[in-house]
Amino acid sequence: MRRFLVAGNWKMNGDSAANAALVAGIIAGLEASDGVDVLVCPPYPYLAAVAAQVSDSSLLLGAQSVSEHTAGAFTGEVAPAMLQEIGCRYVIVGHSERRALYGETSEQVAAKFQAAQDAGLTPILCVGESLEEREAMATESVIAGQVAAVVAVSGVDAFASAVIAYEPVWAIGTGEVATPEQAQDAHFHIRGLLAAENADVAANLQILYGGSMKGENAPGLLSMPDIDGGLIGGASLKSADFLAIVNAGVEAVR
Ligand code: PGA
Repeated sequence: MRRFLVAGNWKMNGDSAANAALVAGIIAGLEASDGVDVLVCPPYPYLAAVAAQVSDSSLLLGAQSVSEHTAGAFTGEVAPAMLQEIGCRYVIVGHSERRALYGETSEQVAAKFQAAQDAGLTPILCVGESLEEREAMATESVIAGQVAAVVAVSGVDAFASAVIAYEPVWAIGTGEVATPEQAQDAHFHIRGLLAAENADVAANLQILYGGSMKGENAPGLLSMPDIDGGLIGGASLKSADFLAIVNAGVEAVR
């Protein structure tokens, strides 16, 4: 059976004091999180401090992005091995903000995915359609293209040690959440894309929903058969809000 994963994407928020309080609050609430893996993804400068703080807990650490290169003259970039060394186990690749604001192409995202795996990190591949694409009935083809770019480089079997996050762009940070049925349809489609080539990998793949997920709407989303957790932005910045989603996961597992 697939475990749930609830991941906090802090984006460009926080400072040392706020992070320490947030992490302490999450760890204090984790005792009751059986069957649910819980992950935080702080900004780069705080990874080492958070790594130290989570070292005696079950709270997992990840980064929000990574270079597709291993080392060298790439000013401002961070290599996968650096994240691995500092205690990260996961890294988000292809977040829609990276794609839209920083011009990351699906080919670049695929290279980052492969580079992350080469360094022993578990990539969380973000896919999802814009509002225009949904209205043009292109949701499934957009997602298929984003997944295919990674499959072309790494193959379907690489998803045995990866996570996919379905994040409809129109739902990110907008307060407008996908309905459980809309999300389930997309997740079912994603699992089917991989199942066509490897049924086992598809059956075991964690597919997270992301986009305005909160304690109130998490139970409905997490009750759907192909939704295995969440990638949480805004609601990951307060421990009570984040733990409400973790607890919804605990309930859904039961
Ligand atoms: P949100 O962000 O929860 O604030 O909508 C989700 C994400 O971008 O991962």
